[in-house]
Amino acid sequence: MTILALETSCDETSAAVVRDGCVLSNIVSSQIKLHSEYGGVVPELATREHLKNLPPVTESALHEAKLRAADLDAMAATQGPGLPAALMVGLKAAQSMAFALGKPFVGINHHEAHLYSPWIWGEPLQAHFEEFQPNVSLIVSGGHTLLVHVEAVLRHHVLGSTIDDAAGECFDKVGKLIGLPYPGGPQMDRLAEGGHEKRFDFPRPKLRDPDDDFSFSGLKTSVRYFLRDNPDLLDDTQTVRDLCASVQAAIVEVLVAKTMRAAERLNVRCVTASGGVTANRALRLHLASACESRGFTLRVADRSLCTDNAAMIGVLAERKLLEGSAGSSLDADIAPGLALT
Ligand code: KG4
Ligand code: ZN
Repeated sequence: MTILALETSCDETSAAVVRDGCVLSNIVSSQIKLHSEYGGVVPELATREHLKNLPPVTESALHEAKLRAADLDAMAATQGPGLPAALMVGLKAAQSMAFALGKPFVGINHHEAHLYSPWIWGEPLQAHFEEFQPNVSLIVSGGHTLLVHVEAVLRHHVLGSTIDDAAGECFDKVGKLIGLPYPGGPQMDRLAEGGHEKRFDFPRPKLRDPDDDFSFSGLKTSVRYFLRDNPDLLDDTQTVRDLCASVQAAIVEVLVAKTMRAAERLNVRCVTASGGVTANRALRLHLASACESRGFTLRVADRSLCTDNAAMIGVLAERKLLEGSAGSSLDADIAPGLALT
């Protein structure tokens, strides 16, 4: 089965061709430069960029896969969650193509696509669902932080989520307080490399709570007050590095500890992680050592699939079509607040 998938939920315009679980192409056009001028994603600009970029990105995806539109068996697009007008661009384009070609359309939940993205790996990238193991999965992106129990492929339920800011949002907001360009996450990761994580002691919210929820807004606020009371700290480069390392250590410790606790409680032998924040080197490192010491298998999304991309949308859409659980229609609407259930 050959699928063309589109992803336009936030600030990446992406198109991918997936055939029989194999990613034939995955083109991603990032808008980060444009939005960094404004310190965050501007929805109106994101929509205009998607409208401008989607046709050439889609053409490139087909070209790289050495296919024509007539070779496609189905179209897929992110249905939600995301920015309403941005979602509309990809969803309506995919539905129009499906209508013109007389092929089915599948709408995909963006988080569900992240959830199964760690099972796509290799060169070329390929879905390995035959190696699937029941797992506890951490999804950490700019807008969401979720812990999910995945019992089988397409059978999962959410254990907990953030009650306020997401982990990526916390990185980005603290980055802004420090004066780093948007998005702060990758910048803090880079600066933290030369920093001492024990120099400043920031709170680890909900670390010891028995539930599987997260909270990162208190951590961000404590950094804000700390900087208000110590305004000169930012003048020294090493201090900025230490600050980044200390904040990063607080976020990573909470994410890793709560993921491990859920995995132990649910008696799974496998942990997976996905979403933009899994590009963070400290998180990858600490997840790896925590899993190794407990004898867990760890699957972290391939670096190229951590941030938003259409390959994960196409792989999940194909799986759903094969299992007969792809329920979308040509007049399905966007779902900006779509939850993972
Ligand atoms: O999954 P994603 O591309 O988009 C959403 O669905 O939100 O995640 C974007 C988030 C941003 O908050 C960004 O700062 C964060 O992922 N991020 C990182 C790193 N790379 C991206 N956070 C920490 N360290 C990184 N290396
Ligand atoms: Zn995402």
